[in-house]
Amino acid sequence: MGKKKKEVHVVTGAFGFSGKYIAGRLLAAGLTVRTLTNSPNRPNPFGGKAAAFPYDFEHPEKLTAALSGASVLYNNYWVRFNYRNSASFSYPEALKNTEILFDCARRAGIKRVVHISITNPSEDSPFEYFRGKARLERLLIGSGLSYAILRPAVLFGKEDILINNIAWFLRNFPVFAVFGKGDYCIRPVYVGDLAQLAVEHGSRQENSITDAVGPEIYTYREMVRMIGKALGKKRPVISVPPLAGYMLGWLIGKLHNDVTLTWDEIKGLMAGLLCTDSQASGSTRLSDWVKANRDTIGARYSSELARRFNRAESYERL
Ligand SMILES: NC(=O)c1ccc[n+]([C@@H]2O[C@H](COP(=O)([O-])OP(=O)(O)OC[C@H]3O[C@@H](n4cnc5c(N)ncnc54)[C@H](OP(=O)(O)O)[C@@H]3O)[C@@H](O)[C@H]2O)c1
Repeated sequence: MGKKKKEVHVVTGAFGFSGKYIAGRLLAAGLTVRTLTNSPNRPNPFGGKAAAFPYDFEHPEKLTAALSGASVLYNNYWVRFNYRNSASFSYPEALKNTEILFDCARRAGIKRVVHISITNPSEDSPFEYFRGKARLERLLIGSGLSYAILRPAVLFGKEDILINNIAWFLRNFPVFAVFGKGDYCIRPVYVGDLAQLAVEHGSRQENSITDAVGPEIYTYREMVRMIGKALGKKRPVISVPPLAGYMLGWLIGKLHNDVTLTWDEIKGLMAGLLCTDSQASGSTRLSDWVKANRDTIGARYSSELARRFNRAESYERL
């Protein structure tokens, strides 16, 4: 009798951030993993496992072929903001492409989709990011595919941007400026916990929507203080008008050829959209993780645009 063929799961962006942790867990569980990516030439952290296929949204038949024979799709594809007038780096394009991806998944006979969304998505949101995510959830729910929607607030891990750059700022400046009072809440979740949740939900059958949030809830100001203390960089945390904070972020972004934070991200954060009071679905505490990684976190600035335009380097170096 021949050997039983291993189940195939497809993970988007497995050489990036959350996709890397999901793919790692699936490979450790003995599954065959494929990835869809814009960056097939980034270092493959799995020693050649996780075969890479391009996101061929222009040729749905090729995308369908890349998904064929697989049973579960883990989708984290999205863009952080609209960048200049780039057609490919925009919410409308990401929406259109994800619709194509779901359609190809259905055609390829994918049995289950685990979709990474965001806390508090709403089609009535003033923020295009949150509107787009809500629209995608509705699309998936109506697609006929079996689904698990996971809604993380803000992720932390070696390759994250926001928490890392807060630490970078604390290391390099004598004071830290928060937008307004800094009293809005934030609920960080460890990327490995999100990956674990994704893998668990991949093996279930019922349709579900789950907030992916960690065990600690901070105000933004408290979180900055906690990180500063853990790094041995206790800085005065001052309130500045949001526009002044945005301008400061803009300047830092310019100096790094990056977009540090968008106006919508600041307003969304201040509106408490990166927070929920739901039960914790991850157990890793940001405070413990920051202490354990105090020598490396924020040692260099992490750049969203460098990751988008240098597709041959690993996230950890960009
Ligand atoms: N990071 C967070 O703190 C956070 C918080 C809440 C929700 N989320 C959600 O979680 C999901 C995963 O986030 P992540 O940080 O793990 O993402 P990521 O690894 O940076 O990217 C996920 C996938 O999207 C692709 N992608 C990202 N930006 C793109 C752009 N501008 N143009 C074209 N392709 C782009 C990546 O391309 P490559 O294949 O080239 O890498 C990758 O395949 C996203 O849906 C995000 O909305 C993230």
